[in-house]
Amino acid sequence: MSARTAELAGRLEAVLPTVLERLADLVAVPSVSVDPAHRADVLRSARQSAEAFSDLGLEVSVVSVDGGQPAVLGRSRQVEGPTVLLYAHHDVQPTGEAGSWTSQPFTATRRGDRLFGRGAADDKAGIGVHLAALAVLGPELGCNVRILVEGEEEIGSPSLPKLLVEHGEALAADVVVVADSVNWAVGTPSLTTSLRGILDLEVAVSVLDHDLHSGAWGGAVPDAAGALVRAVASLYDTDGSVAVPGLAGPGLTPGVEYDEQVLRADAGIPATSSLPGRGSLTSRLWRQPSITLIGTDLPAVGDAAHVLRARATARLSVRIPPGVVPEAAVDAVTAHLRAHVPHGATVTTTVRACAHPVDLGDDSPAHAVMTGALRDAWEAEPVDIGVGGSIPLIHLLAESFPEATVLVTAVEDPDTRAHGIDESLHLGEFRRACLAEALLLDRIGSGLAGS
Ligand code: BES
Ligand code: MN
Repeated sequence: MSARTAELAGRLEAVLPTVLERLADLVAVPSVSVDPAHRADVLRSARQSAEAFSDLGLEVSVVSVDGGQPAVLGRSRQVEGPTVLLYAHHDVQPTGEAGSWTSQPFTATRRGDRLFGRGAADDKAGIGVHLAALAVLGPELGCNVRILVEGEEEIGSPSLPKLLVEHGEALAADVVVVADSVNWAVGTPSLTTSLRGILDLEVAVSVLDHDLHSGAWGGAVPDAAGALVRAVASLYDTDGSVAVPGLAGPGLTPGVEYDEQVLRADAGIPATSSLPGRGSLTSRLWRQPSITLIGTDLPAVGDAAHVLRARATARLSVRIPPGVVPEAAVDAVTAHLRAHVPHGATVTTTVRACAHPVDLGDDSPAHAVMTGALRDAWEAEPVDIGVGGSIPLIHLLAESFPEATVLVTAVEDPDTRAHGIDESLHLGEFRRACLAEALLLDRIGSGLAGS
């Protein structure tokens, strides 16, 4: 470890308790962006985040455009040198069944190496990493930092395009650090160089004028629930891979591969369950499409009546690999459903949200500096990975600032359970992520290329 790395690591130890306190205070705010009942909480988490950056000497503001959720913008004192935009999001997913959590979802709770709570990792830890890096460097910060902490990432960033237009000047940067991804494994740091896009798609099927007695009419009269289920089933081949033509990317083979037993352990898959899809496991996760049925408006089992339903709706989470354009993917899925729905049922699809997939290069100077910073912080060799999840900002940024290099860094590990019950942050990995970002800013500030 170089003397400078050791010095920054030592300072990090001093600032970490405050950063973790900030993180716990943020976790305590249920900033669930999808739920209108939590609007005031989303504003509260924006203000709390803003205050944390302000206390570090940045000039901050909380802005919202177009009725969207509030975002935090910040800027450091102007210096001679490059500009780095640090991104995270302060909104979170709903808790799911809150009673199924081991500890209260909105009370940051430490057990062993991990800090549990909704948003403890995704992505309030991203805010924590930025705070820690800035606190470590303090007045020695040798580059210009801009902050964007978004409040609606988890609902597809609907007002972000407008925000980028209205506040473009405040966000323009040479390098963008998106601290919202996952590391390959605990102990193996990663830069994420590709992400899938997403279509959040509502599918409505109608086939009758009104509901009918299932005994009186069943057998000779079609029903929308059955038609919907068959249309959705047509989206998959028998091995579970996506059967819709037009959703395949160029089929690149990722540079790292998942061992099946490790994947089964990471994801908690029982030995009796077989895996869907074909091709390498990382290509299935990162470079091929997936379609997940995430909701239906069919009656709950306890409320079911013996009827043929006239109308039925489902919601699909469609992931599209780099190379596929969201609008074309919507058309492909819609056409496939229409071609496969039985009984001449009517299918309409509505896009609730969508995001482009992205392929980021690995050959920029900033990528090399970050790789060196990760190597030094972890004392382990970093790997470039893809991820199957989506971050709408990245494509939008690339359109607004084509010259900027985007680095997607991680606060999660394979056992983080983001969006799930018992989400948690690995505190050892968090500390290393904080150090790596401090090293990045330090090296960009002193103009060092590479490590
Ligand atoms: N942090 C995730 C993105 C992510 C997922 C990174 C998996 C690495 C691995 C992000 O907060 C997220 O969940 N995004 C949503 C976006 C969508 C609602 C538009 C997603 O992917 O579902
Ligand atoms: Mn996230």
